[in-house]
Amino acid sequence: MNNQDVINEIRQKIDIVDLIGEYIPLIQKGKNFFGVCPFHNDTNPSMSVSREKQIYKCFSCGASGNAFNFLMDYEHIDFKEAVKILGEKSGVEVSGIRVNAKTTKYDRYYEMYDIANKFYQNNINTKEGNGAKKYLESRHIDDELIKEFGIGLSLSKNDSLINILFSKNYSMKEIEDLGLATNNHDIYMNRIMFPLHDINGRVVGFSGRIFDDSNANKYMNTKETVIFKKGECLYNYHIARDYCRKLKFVIIVEGFMDAIRLSQIGYKNVIALMGTAMTNEQMNLVKKLSNNIYLSLDGDDAGQQAILNIGEQLTKLNLNVRVIGLPSDKKEHDPDEFIIKYGKERFDGLLEAALGYSDFKINCLKRGVNFNSDVEMAKYVDSVVREVSTIKDEIRREIILKKLANDTNLSYNTLEKRLSEYLEFQQVIDKDEVVQKKNVSKKPMDKYTKASYVLIYSMLNDSWVIRKFEKENVHLITKELRYLASEICYYYRKYGNINMADFYTYLTDKEELKIIYNFIMSFEYDDEINVRAIDDYIAVIKEYNMRQEIKRLKELIKRENDPIAKAEIAERIRLLRIGE
Ligand code: GTP
Ligand code: MN
Repeated sequence: MNNQDVINEIRQKIDIVDLIGEYIPLIQKGKNFFGVCPFHNDTNPSMSVSREKQIYKCFSCGASGNAFNFLMDYEHIDFKEAVKILGEKSGVEVSGIRVNAKTTKYDRYYEMYDIANKFYQNNINTKEGNGAKKYLESRHIDDELIKEFGIGLSLSKNDSLINILFSKNYSMKEIEDLGLATNNHDIYMNRIMFPLHDINGRVVGFSGRIFDDSNANKYMNTKETVIFKKGECLYNYHIARDYCRKLKFVIIVEGFMDAIRLSQIGYKNVIALMGTAMTNEQMNLVKKLSNNIYLSLDGDDAGQQAILNIGEQLTKLNLNVRVIGLPSDKKEHDPDEFIIKYGKERFDGLLEAALGYSDFKINCLKRGVNFNSDVEMAKYVDSVVREVSTIKDEIRREIILKKLANDTNLSYNTLEKRLSEYLEFQQVIDKDEVVQKKNVSKKPMDKYTKASYVLIYSMLNDSWVIRKFEKENVHLITKELRYLASEICYYYRKYGNINMADFYTYLTDKEELKIIYNFIMSFEYDDEINVRAIDDYIAVIKEYNMRQEIKRLKELIKRENDPIAKAEIAERIRLLRIGE
């Protein structure tokens, strides 16, 4: 049996209604089951689960998929892990199957990084590594941590690495393109090397730290390459992944040293930003780890400002953000130094006392306000009340407001009145957002798009539609739709049958197709479709093709100078119009 067969077998043995029912309450209505969608903020049962089709879809946020997709998104795990879990549940042997073990055109580059990584790691244990080892020791990084994080050393001779890579038949150009050399010599010299991994755990870059008194940049990162995208890199992500799932939260820190220290004291669910900025890609990666986020950025101004920026955006992604309060004093303002000075227990205490993001923000608003100035005070009160209006918990709103009344000597009633104004306003915004979301994804479709979507859906529902589709050589209206249709035909020919649930699995590593497929699936369709209706839809597509062809020919006429050729094209247009 090949992979797809094993996976399909698992999928067939798992009933999606039972599976999803283990996570969220489902109520049967007619043929389908309904529940509150766990993938967006909601209280209405907008997710429907079909036992017949073995798929789920949410009509509000558009999430859809089969048993594997549900588990992956709910448990924040990757496809491989979902296969393992459902395999065990269904009693299908999965040990022999390999998922995503494809070879890629970049294999050679990964290999090059692997060689460099081993070289650096080896250096640190030689005589030449003594200085680096001493430095690391002074930073409380012992041999065990050096090994665990693959910390290495680049040598002071400027051709040490390139010579090794030459001997393995890498060219100077490749080495330079991949950011390991410049101007014919090693780019990293005499630095402590931290390997950077992609989300799958392959080394794709390095960050090198100076450890003598040189005044070069403290850290030097690999430039962007075909395999290394800085904006998508999070230090320790590949390790933290499993731990975040078990512990149900993730800790975000700024630096390598912070991540290593937290990991050492047992918080292996830690990732580092490598600075104070966080890109949208990184936020989406974090969202896959957990919905509960602890920000443990430095206590200095830069770190605190970063918490405000990052916290605001993560909150918008519906994540539950907490802030670990580190001291602002110079010496122990980062988690690494704090833990070295005060120990694990004190850090555990900070974690336990972490503030919710809005409480943190409200505390920040207070800073620097001159309470003797009426204008500043009014502005401050207003900004706090505005923030309180975004808090969903009524009791917490009251607590904060009472405290504010106390601090400012204003009456609670005045503040409450202002709050209810903001709450009303907030409700309008919330509603607007829902309406907008619906409008963006569900704007009225033209008939050609509709025909294309119905055809795709019907092909997956009834394989005679596939046979008809192929026989009639239907040319759907966009490149993506044609690609999707060709994959459906291919799948059907290869496996002799097709259904929606298994096809989801087939699309697992086909990102572009998955997006359009999910979008198509987020609409409602009639299951009892007959030959006549399919004929009609195919006719609509053909009409579209004809219009496109006429448009093309008209352009051609414009550019054609020869009158005979012009007449020929005009005749072709006439024939098309009368349907010949
Ligand atoms: P130590 O000074 O060794 O304790 O490092 P740290 O991990 O505490 O770093 P720090 O808090 O100073 O900075 C946080 C992160 O920003 C680092 O881990 C690096 O990823 C990044 N960073 C700091 N300095 C530089 C630099 O000079 N260049 C680059 N590219 N990145 C830097
Ligand atoms: Mn530090």
